[in-house]
Amino acid sequence: MINLAVIGCGYWGVNYVRLLHEIPRARLVCVCDSRPERMALMRQKFPLLSVTDSLDEVFDNRWVDAVVIATPAATHHALAVRALRSGKHVMVEKPMATSVEEAEEMAAAAADNNRVLMVGLTFLYNAGIRKLREMVSDPEFGTVYYLHCTRTNMGPVRHDVSAIWDLASHDLAICDYLLDQTPVWVQAQASTVLDHDLADIAFLTLGYPGNILANIHVSWVDPNKVREVVVVGSQRRVLLNDLNAGEPVRVFEKGICSTRIEPDSFGEFRLQVRDGDIISPRIAPSEPLRNQMEHFLDCILTDRPPISDGAVGLANVRALSAVEESLAKRGAQVEVRGYVSSHSPR
Ligand SMILES: NC(=O)c1ccc[n+]([C@@H]2O[C@H](COP(=O)([O-])OP(=O)(O)OC[C@H]3O[C@@H](n4cnc5c(N)ncnc54)[C@H](O)[C@@H]3O)[C@@H](O)[C@H]2O)c1
Repeated sequence: MINLAVIGCGYWGVNYVRLLHEIPRARLVCVCDSRPERMALMRQKFPLLSVTDSLDEVFDNRWVDAVVIATPAATHHALAVRALRSGKHVMVEKPMATSVEEAEEMAAAAADNNRVLMVGLTFLYNAGIRKLREMVSDPEFGTVYYLHCTRTNMGPVRHDVSAIWDLASHDLAICDYLLDQTPVWVQAQASTVLDHDLADIAFLTLGYPGNILANIHVSWVDPNKVREVVVVGSQRRVLLNDLNAGEPVRVFEKGICSTRIEPDSFGEFRLQVRDGDIISPRIAPSEPLRNQMEHFLDCILTDRPPISDGAVGLANVRALSAVEESLAKRGAQVEVRGYVSSHSPR
């Protein structure tokens, strides 16, 4: 049994509170929120739960083994470092932090205190994304040509971080996970249309090793909700439509590549077109957030790093920071610091 606390019981945090009541090997010891109305709601929904606005009560509670931090991004660093130094395992929401330096300090605090640090990059625990990863790494997929991610909706609009840090953090993590490497460079264009100084719409291009391009489009001002990831390769095209519950993944067994006509001929190529079936593999339904929480508990119990550990969260923040640098340089190509060629096998 692992004893947990949830810090931040807003729109997203309540999902953790619900899940931690449902998972048998987890015991929710207390929840913490600084807003009286959220504390009142928690007391009303869960009358037996200990509810507090005091962070000291959470960090000094020796019965709390692990904390879930579901507060706004700007608070993640201070709360996570304090929790890790108090000896707690930490599951912190994405984006892990709002600067590379903060993310580095969080990863170091986890290592120094020998605690599990996990970042809530929920799509890495989505069964459809896992299926895509399995298919992309299969030799039958052929050479990966490019990826394309679209994440649009009307809201929710944030007032602390831009649509890039809020939404594209998911897609950057998905691309890294599918390719098992991080981008070498990024290029970005964004615009602000609402009455604040945060980007509402963005188009990002990433360059991965092996001449692989990825394109990410995010917007929180689009009346059409889209959650799609496409990977195109020489032999296949695979698509995740996360809004299609019945048929989330589709595989197009089609592709185009060029081959030399004669092995020793110079410059003479033939285009080979493969035209096959369109299939929807069966994906057993599962709740990504529950998969994520179960994985966090497994990692604590077995002392293993999570799939979305501090290093993966840090790579995510490095890419986001490079995107900001590209925007400041009017869309220039910017190298991503600390490029990682492959995540350790999971
Ligand atoms: N993984 C996902 O798919 C996903 C989805 C939605 C949101 N999120 C992330 O979850 C986090 C929270 O988002 P949200 O939409 O729930 O925001 P929210 O504003 O609705 O909730 C945040 C809550 O944290 C509380 N809070 C802030 N500072 C605090 C502090 N120092 N101590 C205690 N409580 C504090 C606020 O009072 C608020 O109730 C963000 O990082 C967001 O990116 C992740």
